[in-house]
Amino acid sequence: MKRHLLSTEDLGRDDALLVLDTAERMARVAEASVRKLPTLRGRTVVNLFFEDSTRTRTSFEVAAKRLSADVINFSARGSSVSKGESLKDTAQTLEAMGADAVVCRHSASGAPHRLATWVRGSVVNAGDGTHEHPTQALLDAFTMRRRLGRVDGLAVTIVGDVLHSRVARSNVWLLATLGASVTVVAPPTLLPIGVSSWPVEVSYDLDAVLPKTDVVMMLRVQRERMSAAFFPTEREYSRRYGLDVDRAATLPEHALVMHPGPMVRGMEIASRVADSDRSTVVEQVANGVSVRMAVLYLLLGGSGEVS
Ligand code: NCD
Repeated sequence: MKRHLLSTEDLGRDDALLVLDTAERMARVAEASVRKLPTLRGRTVVNLFFEDSTRTRTSFEVAAKRLSADVINFSARGSSVSKGESLKDTAQTLEAMGADAVVCRHSASGAPHRLATWVRGSVVNAGDGTHEHPTQALLDAFTMRRRLGRVDGLAVTIVGDVLHSRVARSNVWLLATLGASVTVVAPPTLLPIGVSSWPVEVSYDLDAVLPKTDVVMMLRVQRERMSAAFFPTEREYSRRYGLDVDRAATLPEHALVMHPGPMVRGMEIASRVADSDRSTVVEQVANGVSVRMAVLYLLLGGSGEVS
């Protein structure tokens, strides 16, 4: 494993599989009666979040704590960042406090990459702007493998606001590396210009794609990253690109419905679909802890047996 986890685009197949296999062992720890390992005792993990987050930040916190690391939660609000302190000064302060790993979320694409050039410890990208969110893609692949037994050869359909989605980008690269075939479905206005160079098929017709899909991954419309109107109305978006009960019924029997959260129920996904047996939304959250334990363990060179 390299020292940092910044993207899935530069994550090789062997390292990706190592994370997934290690996560499998970590999941067994989560299922055991004593859910804590001593492997990262004395190490410090800093959660450096410049953007709002519920599940990702807490997931990293739980993961680090299950490995017995000390965790410092640093959010931009209430810190000197709101007084105008730069990312570099913040990084150097954390460095001086002895952070072994910095988990960074930032609204600017590339911020964790800059951070990695300033600190001695490991940097984990927990979502940078519209660029990447590598641990989300790893937990998604882990969820597919646990439910369907493999990732290789699966037909995965990613639907919605691909333009602004770091989850989509990280998934596209990782799934290609792991041998899945990916189709992206979105209104033309919500596809990036460069999509033709991605290892994906593009479709504008969700109904045509669903019957041939093993995994459908729904994305939230990222209003906070939009400065203009990208579609006429929410109703219109939902009618064409939302996964309602009738649409979900056209999926093959074994197919999974995934969503990274937070969901906008009734917009990109109907409540009954989100809460159905084929939905993995809650499992994805649980699997996120195992995957982040694996990532921290591998990057920080944890000592001792896992199980
Ligand atoms: C995603 C994110 O922040 O990129 N959420 C997450 O990490 N679970 C997706 C989103 O915000 O829609």
